Amino acid sequence: MEQLQIFSPATVANVSCGFDAMGFALDQLGDEMTFRKTSEKGTVVITKIEGAKLPYDAQKNAASFVALKMLEDAQADFGLELEIVKKYKPGSGLGSSAASSAGSAYAVNQFLNGTYTTLELVKFAMLGEELACGSPIADNVSAAVYGGFVLIRSYDPLEIVSIPTPDDLYVTVLHPQIELKTEDGRNVLPKKIPLKDAVKQWSNVGGLISGLYTSDYGLMGRSLEDIIVEPARKLFIPHFDAVKEAAIASGAVGAGISGSGPSIFALSKGKDQAQKTAHFMDEVYKNKGIEYNIYVSSIGKQGTRIIQP
Ligand code: HSE
Repeated sequence: MEQLQIFSPATVANVSCGFDAMGFALDQLGDEMTFRKTSEKGTVVITKIEGAKLPYDAQKNAASFVALKMLEDAQADFGLELEIVKKYKPGSGLGSSAASSAGSAYAVNQFLNGTYTTLELVKFAMLGEELACGSPIADNVSAAVYGGFVLIRSYDPLEIVSIPTPDDLYVTVLHPQIELKTEDGRNVLPKKIPLKDAVKQWSNVGGLISGLYTSDYGLMGRSLEDIIVEPARKLFIPHFDAVKEAAIASGAVGAGISGSGPSIFALSKGKDQAQKTAHFMDEVYKNKGIEYNIYVSSIGKQGTRIIQP
């Protein structure tokens, strides 16, 4: 194989109550990346980046960094050229660096004839997350690699559990075009939490997972509550409370911050409801002088995938 074009999805991490422990993939929104094999052993050269200002230095770009680590680990006798087309801005809360890292891990493994397991691909992709935001977070990258809804049951050793989701589960995302760095969003978080808050939070994680298994939308809605991270981060997201209230008033099952923000997500039963929710969220943001995009998507059951062999 000389060339490969892949798609790597945008992802919603945390899903309110599951900070660093849950995430899911969107269906259509994501990065497109093209890889070409070269004879320059162990090297990665970025030839094009479209849609975002990101470093061309292979050691500083999450996608090429992951590729370099994999080529080194596998002692590959080839190198790669890489083109990245980003369809949404970095700093969105939609796992932009994770899409690049996961896409790279997936694609390089194709050139290596599937040397690595899916779990190992997540571990490589986490190196890209560490480079991009200072922490080797697994939620966005595992949702991108595995697709669907994932639970990070453990970081050490890494264990990822795929959680089934109802077919009519949809997400609406409002993405204000302001950049929030994940690193900054992590620095504002409490270092210690009261035990009663921890109890509430982990009960909600259990409730959300149970609701997904049983298609119990009421249970999902009651569990989409984050009393630890959201209060600290929402201050950086203009009109967050109003958007969340509007989403719930429209009939969405619940809403919260996507990843570290500024994107705001809402889950709904069915596409029509998700579109109605989009309309209600739009009403809050229009005429506020902030550019924004709104996406409606089913849960992306497939993660990173080949566009053109
Ligand atoms: N779980 C991470 C965080 C996701 O909330 O910081 C980053 O998008």
